[in-house]
Amino acid sequence: MPDAIVAEGLVKKYGDVVALDGMELTVPEGTVFGLLGPNGAGKTTTVRILTTLLKPDAGYAKVAGLDVVRDARRLRAHIGVSGQYAAVDDHLTGAENLEMVGRLYHLGVKRAKQRARELLERFDLTEAGDRPVQGYSGGMRRRLDLAGALVVSPPVLFLDEPTTGLDPRARASLWDVISELVATGTTVLLTTQYMEEADRLADRIGVVDHGHVIALGTADELKDQVGGDRIELSVTSVADLAAVRRTLAPLAVGDMQVDAPALRVAIPVTGGATALTTALGHLIAEGIAVRDAGLRRPTLDDVFLTLTGHEADEKIKETVR
Ligand SMILES: Nc1ncnc2c1ncn2[C@@H]1O[C@H](COP(=O)(O)OP(=O)(O)OP(=O)(O)O)[C@@H](O)[C@H]1O
Ligand SMILES: [Mg+2]
Repeated sequence: MPDAIVAEGLVKKYGDVVALDGMELTVPEGTVFGLLGPNGAGKTTTVRILTTLLKPDAGYAKVAGLDVVRDARRLRAHIGVSGQYAAVDDHLTGAENLEMVGRLYHLGVKRAKQRARELLERFDLTEAGDRPVQGYSGGMRRRLDLAGALVVSPPVLFLDEPTTGLDPRARASLWDVISELVATGTTVLLTTQYMEEADRLADRIGVVDHGHVIALGTADELKDQVGGDRIELSVTSVADLAAVRRTLAPLAVGDMQVDAPALRVAIPVTGGATALTTALGHLIAEGIAVRDAGLRRPTLDDVFLTLTGHEADEKIKETVR
């Protein structure tokens, strides 16, 4: 499969601030790449360079086979972009904004109007579509901005934090839209601060910190880097806690963590669901009553914490959006 996006050694400085410091990534056609990182990691800067809005100080990148600097003009016809810097005209209605995008991409008047209606419907903006955008809520603006990126179904789509500020319903509907586009061969690069989103949508994830990728892989590969699964159990008495420890010691691949007041034990294991089944078998054979049992895989939050030494949302909490 050819790569739809390739970036190598991208550097971008703003005075003393190094926004990108050797950013690289490759995205095969028809796949979703998730750029995951905290505020200031360099996600938007990367997107801006890849969408020709900003020139890198060093390094190079190609999108749809075109150089983002030398072939910038030609490239623009092949990409769609939505994000933190995208402009919608406040004085126009939602429908007019989308029609304008359609006309920019040379859709005829009729087709542009039709496409605008389809997208308004899709993003739950049908009723608001004939009102000026200046009266829209933040979430409505985000949805309109996303709709704008989809007017011409470009082969490569860049979505900068597409679901930030959306309610759960709008978020779920956007996830559906993205999945449908990818099924028809669209390549998507999305940035996100949400582990869940990268996990759910991206074929491969690049974890970014300080302007470069610090880890790369599928969600499962990244989780494996952090290490193992854990069985979490709770029992009904302190005596049972001791019995659990004794019974499951042969299964544990590290130290068990015991929370005595909560009557809970966490046991590091390998082998996922099989280990859980085995453990429950042993406990039943020993006549130990288990109140609750589950298998916990590391989340991408755990991955982020392990890789960067800080939590992904530590900085986010400080940010007022
Ligand atoms: N126009 C600019 N002028 C000066 N510094 C900038 C500019 N744009 C970005 N930076 C700096 O470059 C770094 C990377 O910013 P960028 O916007 O790419 O991060 P991000 O990962 O998109 O963050 P966020 O999650 O907050 O959107 C930050 O330190 C930021 O302050
Ligand atoms: Mg950003």
